[in-house]
Amino acid sequence: MTAIADPAQLRAFVAGMPKAELHIHIEGSLEPELIFALAQRNGVSLPYPDVESLRAAYAFTNLQSFLDIYYAGASVLLKEQDFHDMAWAYFQRAHADGVIHAELFFDPQTHTERGVAMRTVIDGLESACRRAKAELGIESELILCFLRHLSEEAAFATLEEARPHLGRFIGVGLDSSEVGHPPEKFERVYAEARRLGLRAVAHAGEEGPPEYIWGALDRLKVERIDHGVQSLRDPRLVERPVRERIPLTVCPLSNIKLCVFRDLRAHNLGRMLELGIVATVNSDDPAYFGGYLNQNFHETMSALGLGAAAARQLAANSFEASFVSPERRQAYLERLDAHCGRHRLA
Ligand code: ADE
Ligand code: ZN
Repeated sequence: MTAIADPAQLRAFVAGMPKAELHIHIEGSLEPELIFALAQRNGVSLPYPDVESLRAAYAFTNLQSFLDIYYAGASVLLKEQDFHDMAWAYFQRAHADGVIHAELFFDPQTHTERGVAMRTVIDGLESACRRAKAELGIESELILCFLRHLSEEAAFATLEEARPHLGRFIGVGLDSSEVGHPPEKFERVYAEARRLGLRAVAHAGEEGPPEYIWGALDRLKVERIDHGVQSLRDPRLVERPVRERIPLTVCPLSNIKLCVFRDLRAHNLGRMLELGIVATVNSDDPAYFGGYLNQNFHETMSALGLGAAAARQLAANSFEASFVSPERRQAYLERLDAHCGRHRLA
């Protein structure tokens, strides 16, 4: 008999399970209370009178309806301290959820377009990363995302602006409005980023068609696909991530909030695990989508009837998919094994 005999025990096992978060837009962790505090601190006026009315606007119908509000929220970030405070708030919540390693997306163009310097953004985020290591024991890395609704030229300019900071972020990603902005638009920027030694990931198949996943793999040569939930529409696309062990960073609550699936019971995460895909669970924009990492685990597992073995697989996948050295990966997996041992899970 295993020690996990009922839902409460499963919940405790999952809550304390060591895990990596690989798909979190740090600007998407900005809670309404912090948005208003920063707006006041920086003298920025918001199109909402208070926290309640802002939160009430979080009723999204698709990705674009969310992005409009997400970019408005990010407009309160001006100073290095703002970026620090935002990321530090995330790290404290992540720590409470058992996150021991996090790879944070940031959207510099959202800030540089408003006159905030690249250095200000990176300095603030990096100091929060250092603090997370010192005070919470969380390892973290930064991934610079290009906004795909902007031009290739703007992405090149952003990469150029980030060049003095190489070594302070580990890779590039691609986010914002997917449909109408296929990966190949950024093929040359990604080639240059890879030439600079950066890792490559991209959002693909969130709302967009399976072809965008092919594009991300073949043209951008990404090592992970962010979302990728549309891959199951193309049987050939399932075979490839399994064979090549290309991870998908799945964000279940995000997919429901943005109406990608009707509800969590219709989500294909369980099917992905059955097929042997290296799927991981992530929170995407937790301040907007109804919860941080453990909330994603609890709600999805309960809706799909997933048990401790699936949770363990998802955590192991998160370490396999992370951009860490083999030695650190091994150490993470040993921490996971020790946790399972404490719960008498062989
Ligand atoms: N930017 C922040 N969250 C995003 C998402 N879920 N998809 C695309 N771009 C994003
Ligand atoms: Zn995302």
